[in-house]
Amino acid sequence: MAAFDLETYVERSRAVDLSAIDWADVPRYPVPPETLRTLRYMQDIESHTIIYLRSLLATRAIDDPEVATFLACWLYEETFHGIALARFLEAAGAPLPPRATPRGQESMAKRIEAAATAMVSKAWPDFCAVHMTWGAINELTTLTGYRRLALVSPHPVLNDLLDRIVLDESRHFFFYYRQAELRMHGRAAARIARLLVDRFWAPVGSGVQPDAELRFLATYLFAGPDGRAAARKVDETIRRLPGFENVQLLEAWMDRHLETSAGSQA
Ligand SMILES: [Fe+2]
Ligand SMILES: [Fe+2]
Repeated sequence: MAAFDLETYVERSRAVDLSAIDWADVPRYPVPPETLRTLRYMQDIESHTIIYLRSLLATRAIDDPEVATFLACWLYEETFHGIALARFLEAAGAPLPPRATPRGQESMAKRIEAAATAMVSKAWPDFCAVHMTWGAINELTTLTGYRRLALVSPHPVLNDLLDRIVLDESRHFFFYYRQAELRMHGRAAARIARLLVDRFWAPVGSGVQPDAELRFLATYLFAGPDGRAAARKVDETIRRLPGFENVQLLEAWMDRHLETSAGSQA
């Protein structure tokens, strides 16, 4: 895989161009309730990025100048994904209600997780290896989810928006993946990163969105044969990382959590 050109990425990093989207055309095409529900989930996760960043800032992640520079642009782009999806929901006649609790308030479980992550980071010099692997899995899952949504629920304006977002997510994935690859050439780093992923990984949004919403989204986007194939491709890509040859991710999670897809669709 080619090297990630951070300088070019930083130069080109910008917000998704909201003025280029044909918002007035949104109501001209139907948006099924399942799509609205999926978009609400995705919007919530995109706008949660800054809260996730708060946990990251307490770790070694920002000690590396390349990672710190990337994260600044990454946060900016992700924030605009959230803004763009909220705008789409509004244009579709389904605006997001005001938040019941302020964005910055996290559940106790999430706060414990953040504190545990900070502790692991302090104790383990190669912490960035697992952070980068985690990022690669999440970005790839996210961009695959957006691609699946565009296929499952075609809508000209939504597809245009999703294409733009997917471009950003592809660059995010590429950065994390290359970093993970480089950082896991040491066998110990790869072993510990693998152990942590095996033990703690769950799809993007777990613990932030209710489990029922995550199961709904996974079923809507990934349960059919094409969805399964897309999920498998995510897993196969991550398996190319050193030490991750037989890692069980999205498909295995679906087998464990989705009644409708277990067995029959595999
Ligand atoms: Fe995003
Ligand atoms: Fe992203």
